[in-house]
Amino acid sequence: MNKALDPALMQAAEAIGSHVATPDLGAYWMPFTANRQFKQAPRLLARASGMHYWDVQGREVLDGVAGLWCVNAGHNRPRITAAIQKQAADMDFAPPFQMGHPKAFELASRIVQIAPAGMGKVFFANSGSEAVDTALKMALAYHRVRGEGTRTRLLGRDRGYHGVNFGGISVGGMVGNRKHFGLAVAGVDHLRHTHDPARNAYSNGQPAHGAEFADDLEKLVAMHDASNIAAVIVEPIAGSTGVLVPPMGYLQKLRELCTKHGILLIFDEVITGFGRTGAPFAAQTFGVTPDLITCAKGLTNGAVPMGAVIAKDEIYETFMQGPEHMIEFLHGYTYSGHPLACAAGLGTLDTYAEEGLLTRAGPQGDGIAAYFAQGVHSLKGEPHVIDVRNHGLVGGIELQGIAGEPTKRAFSVFLDCWAQGVLIRTTGDTIALSPPLIIERGHVDRIVETIRTALRRAA
Ligand SMILES: Cc1ncc(COP(=O)(O)O)c(C=O)c1O
Repeated sequence: MNKALDPALMQAAEAIGSHVATPDLGAYWMPFTANRQFKQAPRLLARASGMHYWDVQGREVLDGVAGLWCVNAGHNRPRITAAIQKQAADMDFAPPFQMGHPKAFELASRIVQIAPAGMGKVFFANSGSEAVDTALKMALAYHRVRGEGTRTRLLGRDRGYHGVNFGGISVGGMVGNRKHFGLAVAGVDHLRHTHDPARNAYSNGQPAHGAEFADDLEKLVAMHDASNIAAVIVEPIAGSTGVLVPPMGYLQKLRELCTKHGILLIFDEVITGFGRTGAPFAAQTFGVTPDLITCAKGLTNGAVPMGAVIAKDEIYETFMQGPEHMIEFLHGYTYSGHPLACAAGLGTLDTYAEEGLLTRAGPQGDGIAAYFAQGVHSLKGEPHVIDVRNHGLVGGIELQGIAGEPTKRAFSVFLDCWAQGVLIRTTGDTIALSPPLIIERGHVDRIVETIRTALRRAA
């Protein structure tokens, strides 16, 4: 018998028909988790449907974060479940090297249909981190096959998050994610981030000030010379460092400078992809087309792991040279385009299309994003709140941290919300909201009022 879990709790789990066995919590080394804190008071989820989770005690929890920015269509959607079940019965696995299966091609075509014009090729990976490292390698190899092999330097941005693999942490700008891991990839530099609360606090949508932060690229070109720079990678909206919305004109300027200097522009759309900003991709929302887009999460509604790189046709065509029997890009994963992930992706895109979810958070939507914005901005003036930021169905509420104890205040708000039956997410001392795109006004009210209550009693 597991000592950590209350028998009454487990009985309740069985009563709601969950398949949760009594787990021993010792063996599992949890990712990005305060393991010791968690194991003292575990937060175990048992099932999910629509906007909600239920924990192993049978308690309903409203999901304010789409799981982890993934479940854009809401939980356990029938089309997606059925597609996965059918695929598992039909064919479990197909080797992706020198072989294929129809659904991988079908999914790639469907992604291209909603991608920015001219971005006609899709390479599959299994996570956002893998998509990022794939895109970085693609950028390096692209320059090399064009005869510009000196372009090896990769540029990221302070406060960027691009997953946890070596390429991603190198171009990423989160010190905590880098400092334990030595040099990682060499030859990387960073632009400044765009967070400027002195000028932009409480912006509703894109902040007015800061397009000039993109000029940092000119400085780095002056320092390293464009002939040595392969690519710049940025998140259109930085999520993991607390919802940083791009200032007006910033991404346009970055695009112009990349084009001017022959540098590839990569948008990491792992969280902004698939409707989060009111269009299929943030590239379309902000009217800027990069050369490569990385995506994951909402691609399969989180149901089966999958990531992808969407590339401009010209990049793919550049690789298509040399003897035809030779592999053009020596990269890929055993599970690239896995049949279950492809089935989940197709079911997901069908669900998004049927319910208009990819544009619901934008101007063509039913006003839910404006209602959400009003809700999160109503937290201005509550205890500890020092900024509120939002775009589409993304909201950031920044708190004043406790002196000398960063993250603790926001974490206490997270725990309080959990106790009240609402799942939020905190990064540093910022609450980051990214609810499923099926959210209704009553859910927005519940999320906002739960946070308000937690803030009022937070130390
Ligand atoms: C912008 C961005 N890139 C990459 C990743 C990494 O994705 P994964 O955790 O699937 O590897 C994330 C994850 O949150 C992300 O937000």
